[in-house]
Amino acid sequence: MYRINANYGKLPGSYLFSTIAKKVAEFEKQNPDRKVIRLGIGDVTQPIAPSIISAMHTAVDEMGLAETFHGYAPDLGYSFLREAIAESDYRQRGADISPDEIFVSDGAKSDSGNIQELFSADCKIAVTDPVYPVYVDSNVMAGRCGDYDAASGKWSDLLYLPTTADNNFVPELPDRECDVIYLCLPNNPTGTTLTRDQLQKWVDFANEKGCLIIYDGAYEAYISEEDVPHTIYECNGAKNCAIEIKSFSKNAGFTGVRLGYTVVPKELKCEGVSLHDMWARRHGTKFNGAPYIIQRAGEAVYSAQGKKELKEQVAYYMENARLIREGLTGMGYDCYGGVNAPYIWMKTPDNMTSWDFFDRLLEGAGVVGTPGSGFGPSGEGYFRLTAFGQRSNTEAAIEAIRKM
Ligand code: MLT
Repeated sequence: MYRINANYGKLPGSYLFSTIAKKVAEFEKQNPDRKVIRLGIGDVTQPIAPSIISAMHTAVDEMGLAETFHGYAPDLGYSFLREAIAESDYRQRGADISPDEIFVSDGAKSDSGNIQELFSADCKIAVTDPVYPVYVDSNVMAGRCGDYDAASGKWSDLLYLPTTADNNFVPELPDRECDVIYLCLPNNPTGTTLTRDQLQKWVDFANEKGCLIIYDGAYEAYISEEDVPHTIYECNGAKNCAIEIKSFSKNAGFTGVRLGYTVVPKELKCEGVSLHDMWARRHGTKFNGAPYIIQRAGEAVYSAQGKKELKEQVAYYMENARLIREGLTGMGYDCYGGVNAPYIWMKTPDNMTSWDFFDRLLEGAGVVGTPGSGFGPSGEGYFRLTAFGQRSNTEAAIEAIRKM
C-alpha cells in the first residue's frame, strides 16, 4: 500500500488566497446586489503594455512558420532574455551577474516554492514574520517546520523574525542557529523595506555564520527611495551567500502570462558543492523552459519603449498606493508601506483581529483585503490592501471605508 506525504496534513486550512476567494464568493452569493471591490490578492489590473503585446504577436507569428518555429526552449532560458536581464537588472546597477547565472522560469512563485529542494531535510529555516506564505508552506510540505500550534499560529521548528511597527519593520538578526533565511524586499506583505546598509548587515551575518539567504525581489520595480537596494548583489559578499528570485508579474503585469527568473551565483558553494550546478540539474530534469513567446515578451520588458511604458504603469499603481495610504491615514488609521511597494499595511482599529476586520470591511464597505494573520503570527492585528486595483475602484474603496 502506498503512503502519502503526511506533511501535507499538517498544513492548516487552504492556501491563504484560496481561503479569501472562497469567503468572497460566499458573500457575493448571499449579497448579489452588493458591489465588491477586490484589494486582496496582489494581482495586477492594467493591460500588458503595447510594446510587449507587439513582441508577443511577432513571436506568435514566428511560431506559425517552419523557418522561425521554436520547439522546446533551452531549459535555463533563451540567451536573448538572460542577456537583457543581466544587463538591465544587474550590470547597470553595478552588480556583477552574468547571463549564465540567471535561470529563467515560469514565475517567482514556483521558484520560491521549489528552491527548498536544494536544502537538506534538517536545515533550519528562518522567515521574517509576517511573510509571503509560500516560503513556509513549501518547507512544511518538505517536513522542515515541525508541528503547527494553532493557539500561537507558529511552527515548532521555524525561526520567526518579527517585523512589526514595534521594530519599525526592521527585523533583528537571528539570535538562534538557522541555516536558510528568506527575505522579501520590498516586503510582501508589509510594503516596507531595508536600506542598503541594513541589508549589508544580513549579508555579512550570512557569510559569517554560513547561512544562505533566499532573496525575493518581486517588488523591486516599486522602489522609489535612493538608499534602497534594487538587488541583494549591490551588497558586498552577496554572491557568496544569496540566491535572488525575481518576477515579471508585478513590474510588467505578467500574472496571467507567467515569467520569472532566479539568480544562483557560481560562487555560491556549500561544502564545495555548487548550488548553481544543483539548480541547473533540477531545472534540466524538472522544467522544459518558459515558452518562447513569453520569453520574447520578457525581452521587450527591457527595450527602451518597454521600460518607458512600464514606468508609467508602476506610477499608476503607486498613485493608487498614495491614495490608499493618505486616505486611510486621514481617517486616523496607522498605515505603513506604499512608498517602495504596492502594498499598504494598516493596523486594525480597536484591537480587532485581522479576520474580524476582514469581515467588517467586506460587510461594511464591500472591500476585500488580506488579513495580516494569514501571513504569520506577527501579522495579527494588521491588514493588507493592494494598490494593484483600477483607479476608480481604489477611489471607490477608500470612499466606502470612509463612509463605513
Ligand atoms: C500576494 O497577493 O501576496 C501575491 O499576489 C501573491 C503572489 O504573488 O503569488
